[in-house]
Amino acid sequence: MDRLEEFIRGLPKAELHLHIEGSLEPEQMFAFARRNGIELPFADVEAVRAAYAFSNLQDFLDIYYQGARVLLTQQDFQDLAMAYFRRIAADGARHAEIFFDPQTHTERGVAFPVVAEGLLAGMAQAQAELGVSSKLILCFLRHLSEDEAFETLSQAEPYLDRIVGVGLDSSEIGHPPAKFARVFAAARAKGLKTVAHAGEEGPPDYVYQALDLLEVDRIDHGNRALEDDALTERLAREGMTLTVCPLSNLKLCVIDDLVVHPLKTMLALGLRATINSDDPAYFGGYLGQNWTRTAEALDLSRDELVTLARNSFTGSFLAPDEITVHLAEIDRYVAGFA
Ligand code: HPA
Ligand code: ZN
Repeated sequence: MDRLEEFIRGLPKAELHLHIEGSLEPEQMFAFARRNGIELPFADVEAVRAAYAFSNLQDFLDIYYQGARVLLTQQDFQDLAMAYFRRIAADGARHAEIFFDPQTHTERGVAFPVVAEGLLAGMAQAQAELGVSSKLILCFLRHLSEDEAFETLSQAEPYLDRIVGVGLDSSEIGHPPAKFARVFAAARAKGLKTVAHAGEEGPPDYVYQALDLLEVDRIDHGNRALEDDALTERLAREGMTLTVCPLSNLKLCVIDDLVVHPLKTMLALGLRATINSDDPAYFGGYLGQNWTRTAEALDLSRDELVTLARNSFTGSFLAPDEITVHLAEIDRYVAGFA
């Protein structure tokens, strides 16, 4: 391990943009398929990996929804979550705010409580065994209707004390944030935080809509906001956290090469950017890989890395006193890293 990797590994950090279904590794896909008696359209793990060549978001989503079909039982969801937490604990993560897509499962007859109870059990296990804390964010699939989002929110009702917020994911173009303004208002009225994918493939206008119509607490991705100077200035002025996902952007052809990734520019513009993995089993790396590969490609300085680590906690939904503890831990770590 070189010095950069070592510094990054020990740096206390949080992950704020992770789809738990996107942490399903091909090996695990086969194991779950076997124990659940499900036929996969792939001969072996190599064939699955070979299928992970995407030219855009939709290419990926098609295979991602197909993969999720192996998840049936509460134990599957708990095991999936725990495998993810083991990975990020090894990457020096202290906290994660994870997305789940209930509609991907309820549509196939897997009941909301099976999914929620399984994930919450995995989260409790991660806290107990790894010391990694976490929060759960329910994402609405934006290619489905507003009515279906409302139905999902009502299914979540018994769990709202254990769900920190709602998000918006799936196919961005053609499904603007405006479509979900009312269900987000209902979620906010219940005391939930709100986040939305915006500006990954969609135009800057979708970022404005996420801010003005959904009143989000964070923007997921946000890359295309940089095309609009007034929007960029507003995001910086308002201290809006952007959950940026470098290896995802590379795999989904949002960028051609990591060396042209906008992360360093975002920091220079005063944007509160963070580094995240999005769907690590599909995009070639977990949190640590996203950090090291981006740091190398963009030649990020020690100060920039520390800023990114701080942003991952200040942008989290942890309580202010918990954030203070993590920031102090970062300071101690940096002071002690000779
Ligand atoms: N974008 C939109 N929807 C998603 C993604 C993503 O990167 N990953 C899982 N669902
Ligand atoms: Zn995402």
